[in-house]
Amino acid sequence: MKELDDSAAKMENNPTPENVDKEFHLRLLEERDTEELFSLLTANYDYLKKWLPFPNNAFQLSDAKAYINDGRKQYLTYAGVPFGIFLQSKLVGFISYRKADWANRIIGLGYWIDSSRQGRGLATKACRILTDFAFDGLRMNRVEIACATENIKSRAVAERLGFCREGIIREAEYVNGRYVDHVVYGILAREWADSAR
Ligand SMILES: CC(C)(COP(=O)(O)OP(=O)(O)OC[C@H]1O[C@@H](n2cnc3c(N)ncnc32)[C@H](O)[C@@H]1OP(=O)(O)O)[C@@H](O)C(=O)NCCC(=O)NCCS
Repeated sequence: MKELDDSAAKMENNPTPENVDKEFHLRLLEERDTEELFSLLTANYDYLKKWLPFPNNAFQLSDAKAYINDGRKQYLTYAGVPFGIFLQSKLVGFISYRKADWANRIIGLGYWIDSSRQGRGLATKACRILTDFAFDGLRMNRVEIACATENIKSRAVAERLGFCREGIIREAEYVNGRYVDHVVYGILAREWADSAR
């Protein structure tokens, strides 16, 4: 548990080396971000619902608050760490560690970006930062990205970062009335180090 505590403390105090970048940074979402998160999610509802099971059309401010607080509760185990992606201090997206498997040192990434901010490399940059930290800060051995097989833009993020396409999980997720197959990408610590990003 000490190792977990150390990792959590490190994340809290020094989330990413790139946070010296004034234009772009990641930070843990806090309750004060609730309204901004709610506005962003509702503005992007139609675009997000194609690939994400949330928000649904009954999504309210209280759900945004719960989303942040639930994420923060999962923070110590890295089961779902809610990072906001900020551009010039404005919330433009979200990225989270998912499903940390400490016994096998595997962790997943999930993310979304404001539709009007697509096409600038922001999601790729955020994934690069959290992949770096997963290996260097959390001492993971493997980082995974799983997304719907038809989600070309999300697949491109994993491929751009050099993740290996490993296989298909059939009907892995129920998203707004349909099952989608997942394509799973993975990268190992030694591969990430060799790629020297
Ligand atoms: C998946 C998602 C985050 C991808 O967004 P994106 O903008 O395509 O990804 P990035 O922010 O990394 O930007 C990559 C694009 O910026 C371009 N780009 C510009 N500068 C760049 C840079 N410095 N580095 C990398 N890419 C750059 C790339 O060429 C690419 O453009 P293209 O799509 O025309 O080829 C976004 O589509 C999304 O939020 N979708 C809805 C939710 C979702 O599907 N989440 C994933 C669930 S697993």
